[in-house]
Amino acid sequence: MTAKIGVGILGTGRISDLHVLEYIANPATEIRGLCDRNVELARQKALAWGLKDVKTITDDMDDIFRDSEIDLVEILLPHDIHLRAALGAMEAGKIISLQKPMCSTLEEADILVEAVDGYDRPFKVFENFIFYPPVIKARELIEQGAIGKPISIRIKSHAGYSETEWEVPKSAQDWRQRVERSGGGPLVFDDGHHKFALAWSFMGNPEAVHSFIREVTREDGFVFDAPAMVSFLFPENRVGNLEIVYSPELIINTVYYAQDDRVEISGEKGIIWINGGHGKLGDSPPVILYEGGRFTEFTNIPTGWEQSFILSTRDFINKVCNGGDPVLTTREAREILRFASAAEQSNREGKTIYL
Ligand SMILES: NC(=O)c1ccc[n+]([C@@H]2O[C@H](COP(=O)([O-])OP(=O)(O)OC[C@H]3O[C@@H](n4cnc5c(N)ncnc54)[C@H](O)[C@@H]3O)[C@@H](O)[C@H]2O)c1
Repeated sequence: MTAKIGVGILGTGRISDLHVLEYIANPATEIRGLCDRNVELARQKALAWGLKDVKTITDDMDDIFRDSEIDLVEILLPHDIHLRAALGAMEAGKIISLQKPMCSTLEEADILVEAVDGYDRPFKVFENFIFYPPVIKARELIEQGAIGKPISIRIKSHAGYSETEWEVPKSAQDWRQRVERSGGGPLVFDDGHHKFALAWSFMGNPEAVHSFIREVTREDGFVFDAPAMVSFLFPENRVGNLEIVYSPELIINTVYYAQDDRVEISGEKGIIWINGGHGKLGDSPPVILYEGGRFTEFTNIPTGWEQSFILSTRDFINKVCNGGDPVLTTREAREILRFASAAEQSNREGKTIYL
């Protein structure tokens, strides 16, 4: 490995803008390669990110794999290409960060888990919501015993309307509307991965999942898999749910997606609320604790959604430099994919899925 970790970005689409933040800022890393099927987009991104000396800008991912100055590959591609790209990067011996969901099907995920089991370089499945500072604060409070043992988690995800949201290219919307490319619906399966990861991080793996998933069409023709209600049963009589709603005229304050999330975790002696995710509804404190008969508001916490990407990437760079398991491992990511797939399966088959 060269003195700095050379980074190659595969897929310079919408979300790459948040992935490069830490790789640019961190003294241990340097972006040396950009690859996109739309190579002009990759060139534009290099300019926008202020990267003047990117050695390899290409439309062919094999160029990134062949480049010996690229140590680490960040895979930010549509879900149906995740497996192919990850196996190619492994064959080239790269350190890998693969965006969620690890693959579009469990069968593909099993192939990847087996391949990574025999791989001797760091391999991370990228998940950012569990690195969102208010979520980290809630986890700290629970570890300190503030609410006792968590008994239930309620996650509410709201898609809405925003005049300040970022532009999502039509191409990024198109592949998400084709289940053979995305693996499942845009809110329950794709974005839902983050919500199932949150449930997993606070409660562990579920025993059973049940769901109702309906459809609603946005004014521009984009079909959401909402409203949806997914219920979970965890070991030791603990429960949870994910409720997803699209409210076309609900104003969301955001510079990212017109979407926001709220989480409520109830324990034996207290309750924690996390009051935001992608965006903001008004100006509520990011974390509130109810315990001992009174509320405590935690306000001194960064709430920009980009922080979750920065901290997730920083954690991986630290693990690459100093050792330790990446978050997520492929086995953990496979469990979360199983969680999301069970929600889709339950709705399709009209029954509870026992895992
Ligand atoms: N963590 C999060 O919160 C979050 C948010 C959005 C997206 N994502 C994930 O990020 C990934 C990318 O999503 P996006 O919204 O940026 O999509 P996008 O469509 O904007 O970007 C994907 C890019 O990949 C390029 N591409 C497609 N096939 C290619 C190929 N064979 N070779 C090279 N380039 C190719 C496309 O041209 C496009 O620019 C997905 O896995 C998605 O689930 C995660």
